[in-house]
Order: sequence, then structure tokens, then C-alpha cells
Amino acid sequence: MEMSERIRLLMKRREEARLGGGEQRIEKQHARGKYTARERVEMLLDEGSFEEFDMFVTHRCTDFGMEKSHILSDGVVCGYGTIDGRLVCVYAMDFTVFGGSLSETFANKICKVMDKAMKVGCPVIGLNDSGGARIQEGVMSLGGYAEIFQRNILASGTVPQISAIFGPCAGGAVYSPALTDFTIMSKGTSYMFVTGPKVVKTVTGEEVDEEQLGGANVHASRSGVTHMIVDSEEEGLQLIRKLLSFLPQNNLEDPPLAGCADPIERVDDGLNTLIPDNPNKPYDVKDVIHSIADENEFVEVHRNWAMNIVTGFARFNGMPVGIVANQPCYLAGVLDINASRKAARFVRFCDAFNIPLLTLVDVPGFLPGTAQEYGGIITHGAKLLFAYGEATVPKVTVILRKAYGGAYDVMSSKHLRGDINYAWPAAEIAVMGPKGAVEILFAREARGIEDAEKRASFLAEKEQEYKDTFANPYVAAKHGYIDDIIEPRNTRFRVIRALRMLATKKENNPPKKHGNIPL
Ligand code: HXC
Repeated sequence: MEMSERIRLLMKRREEARLGGGEQRIEKQHARGKYTARERVEMLLDEGSFEEFDMFVTHRCTDFGMEKSHILSDGVVCGYGTIDGRLVCVYAMDFTVFGGSLSETFANKICKVMDKAMKVGCPVIGLNDSGGARIQEGVMSLGGYAEIFQRNILASGTVPQISAIFGPCAGGAVYSPALTDFTIMSKGTSYMFVTGPKVVKTVTGEEVDEEQLGGANVHASRSGVTHMIVDSEEEGLQLIRKLLSFLPQNNLEDPPLAGCADPIERVDDGLNTLIPDNPNKPYDVKDVIHSIADENEFVEVHRNWAMNIVTGFARFNGMPVGIVANQPCYLAGVLDINASRKAARFVRFCDAFNIPLLTLVDVPGFLPGTAQEYGGIITHGAKLLFAYGEATVPKVTVILRKAYGGAYDVMSSKHLRGDINYAWPAAEIAVMGPKGAVEILFAREARGIEDAEKRASFLAEKEQEYKDTFANPYVAAKHGYIDDIIEPRNTRFRVIRALRMLATKKENNPPKKHGNIPL
């Protein structure tokens, strides 16, 4: 056969592979407002950068008539390419081929790109849209999943892993995204659950549809399973690109420095008046974040879940930084189970990938009550404590207002190896708030005052005394627990200087196999 004929045949086969499950199924996919796997990969990567592997792979199943049905690529599009010129490995499940269901060969293809990513040290991006285990392959498919899980686990903390869910993701299939660093779901077209509505009905009698059980909104706001939700696949793919701009290629590299047109000495007078005089009045901590970050840009992680704490990425003088901030305008910024879990995971991610941490503190303490205690706030709160205490990346902390009780210790305090700890002048750092403290300390004396008015004025006087003594940053500063008390308007500049000073920080934990974080 002549070369030209061979090349023609190659092109023909490529065309066939690109068609996936065929035009009809592609049309069906589009009619649902979804893109095909290849369209998604093209949109995700820099134009023309995609190199595909294993286009000619087909499954090896011979049961249930599968021997008569072979589709090139076998339902997953794998390879590598670049995002903003930086290498990434990618796999995209193709719902038009056997419903994107996972066969042995399908899993092998994913494992191949994951292994490549580990060898060269680049992020792995998985685009999920799948009916789960390929039913005809039985245990071969289950084995395939576990091979992927094992690689997710070994890659964790080594290369960033991002999952987008753009369709069904059910059964054990959910555990690969769950093992990755960030999960993004598209609203209205994606769902994730361990068991679907039918099984739920049989086992528990609950009637629930897919959206209510595991839609994007549910996982973004109730379970916290997904870190981000998007209105469209385009938005999701752009978000992956944006997210990667903050991350290093692997754990041995520093995060990428960006150019910074925003003057580092930019002051914001508004910050001097942001904190209300009344300590019980809320304000939005995101105003502080936007004000101090380069170009006011902040990419939030877990925006809709555990909103009493804010986590996300910003840049300071071009340097990517992970921000954790108590949010006074949601549940007064209290630390509860979910806030602790959310922030702990974020802190550990940043620490694993050499991303400095900026912590903005305004926390009245841990949330009291049986719901929290029975739910294990002790264990969950300890996660955040552990995460901060083990983190060796540069840690800059600014106490904006309240830092009470155990929550003071937890929120990247000096005692947990906080590197630079600042406070604003309105900071209140003490074991508890003035009212609670006075009620405990002077309960007996107050009981002895029969006249209610006199009792109230006695307590008010003691409260003032307590405020003057403790509800300020000077006691902590006197002990060196606070390095300086800063004018709010200068926060950007002071944070940038601190981060710059810490850029060459080296700190190691004792050698061990791994710690035992209170999971
Ligand atoms: C093989 C599958 C498949 C599967 C779908 N298909 N799921 N083939 N194995 N798991 C095929 C269908 O036969 C159909 O083929 C095509 O994909 C599209 O499916 P439809 O049902 O027509 O699409 P739709 O109506 O959109 O429904 C999508 C769906 C549904 C909700 C995902 O297909 C479904 O419920 N599938 C089964 C899901 C499931 O139970 N999977 C196993 C979960 S347990 P044709 O040729 O007609 O186009 C699991 C365990 C993993 O995954 C454990 C890991 C540890």
C-alpha cells in the first residue's frame, strides 16, 4: 500500500475517533446544553496545544454483545496540552460513547496520563461526564476505578488535581473527584451521589430527584463536596485556567509570579473606618480582601459553603497567596464544624503547594451547643488547629477585630508558628468577650447586689474595666504575640512587605511517615 493511502486511512480513522458515539449522540449532548469531550478539551487548553494519546484504544469486553461494538477512544479523551503556556495532563469522559462509562481500557488511559503527570510534575485535570462503571465489564471496571483512586492518592500533594463535573457522576465514581484538590460542578447539568434516587427510595423511602440529591447547588452549599459552581461549561473551563494561574506545577516548585501593575504602597483610607464602633456589628471581610489584594482580585473557594469563613486565592505584588478569613457578616464569623473543615483543607492545600497563607482574624470563638458538640466540633476544630500548626509556608496573620478563646490560638497565632502577626487597633484578644467574662468573674458579687439598677451599673463598670484591660491588642503586643499594631489603611503594604521578607523562609517538621490529623 502506498504511503499516501496509509495516510488517508490514518486520517479516516482519526475522523472516526473524533466522532465518538456518532452524530446523533453528539446532537443529543448538545441539545442538553453540554459539549462533547473533545470540544471541552479544545476550550480548556491553549489553542492547538492538545496532543492526544490512545485515540485508537478500544475495549476488550466480549460479554453482552460488546464484541460487536467497538468505538475508537473507548469513551475517554486523554492527553496533554498547555494552559497559559504551562503543561497540563487532561482526560475528558465522552458521554456519547457508552454513556462515558468506565471500562478497563478507559481506566488504563486515564492512569497513563496520570502517570505521565507524576513523572513530569504537572497538574492533572479530569472532566467528568459518565454513567459510572461499564456494567458489561463488571469487576474489571471496578478495578479500573481503584487504579485511578490509587493514583489520585499518590498524586495528592505532589501535583495539583482538578475535577470538573459536567454530567452524571454516580456510585463509586464520585470518589476520584473527591480525592482531588478542587471540584467544579456545572449548574443544572451535573450531579454527584453515591446512590441515586431509585436506591434512596428503596432503602430509606425518601423521594428525591437527582438535582435535590446531588445537584451543583446542593454540593456547593450543603455538603461542601464541590468547591465551585458555574453557570456554564465555558465558565467552568475558564475557571480551571484561572485557578491554575495561582498554582505551581508541582510541590517542588513555587507558585507562578505574575506581573503587578497595582502599586504595593497603595493605601485605602476606607479601611480605617470599616470596622464599626460597636463590636457586635458586622462588616464584610471580603471588602478587606478586595481592598488589599492586587487589582482587587480574589478567587473564592467554597463560596457558598460554611460562609462564616472565607477561603480563596489572591495575589500580593504578583505572588499567589491563600487567604483564610473569618466572616463577621455570616454567623458573626464563628468557627463551627464546617468552617473548620473548610479552612483546614484549604490551609493544607496551600501548605502542600508552597502557597503562603494570609489569615484575617475576626472570630468570636467556637460555636456552642449540642448540635456542634454531638457533631464532633472538638475533632473538626482540631483539624484546623493541626493544619495551621503543621504548615511551614510563610504565614502572615492580621487580627482585624475579635480573637477570642481557642479560636485565637487556632487562627494562625504566633504560637502555631505564625511568622508575622499584626493587629488592627480595634483588635480584642482575650479568653472571652467582656460580657461573658464579667458574668463569670463577678457572678457572686453581682448576686449580692439586690437593687437591679445598681447591679447593672456594677456589671457595666466591670465590663468597661475588662474592655480597657483585655479588649485591645496591647496586651498581646506587650508579650510579642503580635509583632505590630498597624493602621488598617496600610494593610496591603505591610502584608506585602511581610510576604517579601518571608519569601525565603525555610522550616521543616520532624521526619515521620505522616502525622495523624484528627480526621
Ligand atoms: C454501560 C451505559 C452505562 C453504564 C449508560 N450507558 N450508563 N453503558 N454502562 N454504566 C449507556 C446506555 O446504555 C446508553 O447507550 C448510553 O450510555 C446513554 O445512556 P442513556 O441511559 O440513554 O442516557 P441518559 O438517559 O442521559 O441517562 C444517563 C444515566 C443512565 C443516568 C447515566 O444511563 C444510567 O442510569 N446509567 C447507569 C448508571 C449506573 O447505575 N452506573 C453504575 C453505577 S455504580 P446507547 O447505546 O443507548 O446510547 C458504579 C460503581 C463504581 O459506577 C464503583 C467504583 C468503585
